[in-house]
Amino acid sequence: MPDTVIELPRKTRELQNHHMDSTVWNDFPFRDDDVIIATYAKSGTTWTQQIVGQLVFKGDPDVEVHAISPWLDLRVMPPDTGALLEAQTHRRIIKTHLPVDALKMSPKAKYIYIGRDGRDVVWSFHHHHANANALWYQLLNETPGLVGPPIGPPDPDVRRYFLTWLERDGYPIWSYWDNISTWWAIRDLPNVKLTHFANLKADLEGEMRAIAEFLEIDIPEGRWPAILEHCSFEWMKAHAGKVAPLGGAIFDGGGETFINKGVNGRWRDVLTEGDNRLYEQTAVEKLGPECAHWLATGQGL
Ligand code: A3P
Repeated sequence: MPDTVIELPRKTRELQNHHMDSTVWNDFPFRDDDVIIATYAKSGTTWTQQIVGQLVFKGDPDVEVHAISPWLDLRVMPPDTGALLEAQTHRRIIKTHLPVDALKMSPKAKYIYIGRDGRDVVWSFHHHHANANALWYQLLNETPGLVGPPIGPPDPDVRRYFLTWLERDGYPIWSYWDNISTWWAIRDLPNVKLTHFANLKADLEGEMRAIAEFLEIDIPEGRWPAILEHCSFEWMKAHAGKVAPLGGAIFDGGGETFINKGVNGRWRDVLTEGDNRLYEQTAVEKLGPECAHWLATGQGL
C-alpha cells in the first residue's frame, strides 16, 4: 500500500432492513490487508469472492469461499462471524452490499466494487427470490431485530417485478441508484477498484490479472490455468456447494440454483421499448451520463 493518506468519505447513516444491518461495521477491527467485495446485489459478488479466494489461495480447489468470506452486514449472520474473521490467519475477504454513505471504511483495506446493468440485476434477483425456500423467509423475517417491513413472496411476473423495482427505487430490497452512485463517486481512490460483470464475462483472465495487481498478489505463472478454471461459470456451477451463500441451503435446488445462467440481456425479449427508455432515462437522471454508460456497458471508466 502506498504511504499516501487516503481521505475516505465519512459514514453518514445506518441502513437496516430485512437483510441488512450496517451498524456491524462501526467497530469492526480491520486489518491492513483486508479485501472488501461490494456490490448492490446479484452483480457478481460470489464470482468475485471466488476470484479473490482463488488468488489468495493460489488456485486451491478445496477452498469453500462461502464459509470463509462472510457477508458481514447480513443481519442474520451467525453470531460467531466476528470470531471466525478474528481467527483467520489468511488474507480476509469480506462481502458487503452497502452503499458508501452507510459503510464504515478503512483507508488500509482494499475495496472491489462490481457493477451490473440494473435489468440484469433484477432478472437475477427475481430468480433468486422465486427460488428462496422457507428457511430464507424464516431467517430474514423472523430473526429478532428486524427493522422495517418483512419481505414477502415475489410477483411472479418478472416484467411487473422489474417495473415496481424501478418505480420504488429497489423494492423489495434497497436503493440501486444510491449504491451505484456512491461507489462511482469514490472510484478514483487508490484503495478502490471498480469492475463490471460484463467485463468479467468478456475477458476473465485480463480482469483477474488486474485484480491480482490491485491486491498486490503475485501469482506464479503456472498457477493461472487452475485459478482461471476454478472461476469459470462451469466449474462454479459444478461446485456450487463450495461457493454459493450458505452452500445453497436457502434455495430450492441448492447452490446450483444460485449460480443460475451467468449471462446478461435475458430481459431483452420481455421489456418493451418504453420500459427500456424509462430505465435508461432514470439511470442518466440518477447517475449522470458517464456513470450510466459505464453501468450499461462496462466501458468508459
Ligand atoms: P444470474 O442469476 O444472472 O445467472 P451475486 O453473487 O452478486 O448474487 O450474483 C449472482 C449472479 O452471478 C448470478 O447471475 C450467477 O449466475 C452469476 N455468476 C456467478 N458465478 C459466475 C461465473 N463464474 N460466471 C458467470 N456468472 C456467474
